Amino acid sequence: MDYAATGQAAQARIAAAQDLESVERLRIELLGKQGSISALLKTLGAMSPDQRQAQGPQIQALREGVTAALADRKAALEGAALEARLAAEQLDLTLPAPDLPKGSVHPVSQVMDELAEIFADMGFAVASGPEIEDDWHNFTALNMPESHPARAMHDTFYFPDAAPNGGRMVLRTHTSPVQIRTMLAEGAPLRIIAPGRVYRSDSDATHTPMFHQVEGLVIDKGIHLGHLKWTLETFLKAFFEREDIVLRLRPSYFPFTEPSVEVDVGFALVKGKRVLGGSGDAPDHGWMELLGSGMVNRTVIEFGGLDPDEWQGFAFGIGVDRLAMLKYGMDDLRAFFDGDQRWLAHYGFSALDVPTLSAGVGTPA
Ligand code: PHE
Repeated sequence: MDYAATGQAAQARIAAAQDLESVERLRIELLGKQGSISALLKTLGAMSPDQRQAQGPQIQALREGVTAALADRKAALEGAALEARLAAEQLDLTLPAPDLPKGSVHPVSQVMDELAEIFADMGFAVASGPEIEDDWHNFTALNMPESHPARAMHDTFYFPDAAPNGGRMVLRTHTSPVQIRTMLAEGAPLRIIAPGRVYRSDSDATHTPMFHQVEGLVIDKGIHLGHLKWTLETFLKAFFEREDIVLRLRPSYFPFTEPSVEVDVGFALVKGKRVLGGSGDAPDHGWMELLGSGMVNRTVIEFGGLDPDEWQGFAFGIGVDRLAMLKYGMDDLRAFFDGDQRWLAHYGFSALDVPTLSAGVGTPA
């Protein structure tokens, strides 16, 4: 048998294989269990020692040559396939990014930024305090000692843990404890706002167990109700971006302010919708309750470590979610916290739409 000719024929077929499948088919045909070269190897057993000595190395050489040729052809075809793939999968890095869904700034965050911007312009710094608060800061130091009936109105979430300074730990029911914390930490004079989350066990279309307030506190010498009214008027005109905002101050009661003032804002009914502006006493107008405020109670100033004969102040607390609803027209508070992409896409703001006084604090998205 002419092993060299057999080898050449096999090599030629291998070189002509155009894809990996053909190479594999050839491998099986030549070297597989039933393969032709495997069959040649089996003939060695029946040969005489002399024949075997002469032919064994030739058959081995044939097998090795074919094995190497198969491996080379396989590598060449794989390399070519990779080249072809690389050429086909070219990336154009100058193409614009695909239109992926984008995040948006939640209206509550946007309104908080607007508040910070407006109040910063009036010289207010932003303060904060913990959402897990102790009984003393949330109630006692705000002139609500244990057994004070106002505590019952707060629908408080209590923790089982005892507070280190008496009573139990609570989820803060309002941002007013930040008044105490800031007075104790910084002394007087003070001009701060404190936006943040607050918690009450209450839930319907206008109440959620978690909502947002912004606290305002000014402590200085000779502060009176006129300062409070001017500050709120200036703030609300800037926030709602209209000059015809009219406020009505009504006597009210909060343990931590004396006197206490509930502030209403005038609105007009336009096609059945409430639009802020104008006196609520005009025909087709009304008053809407907006916030609680008052002169800081002497007791609270003392709990804040200050002398109430020397320092006076005013404070106010506003619902941030409510401000957002009034300004941007949502009517169900619960949707604020559902995380529904469609709601967020509709009411959310662009991250680039940073509120500034010069550009108008709240340009809608
Ligand atoms: N803390 C009061 C509330 O949550 C609001 C308020 C703040 C009233 C400051 C007066 C002064 O309802």
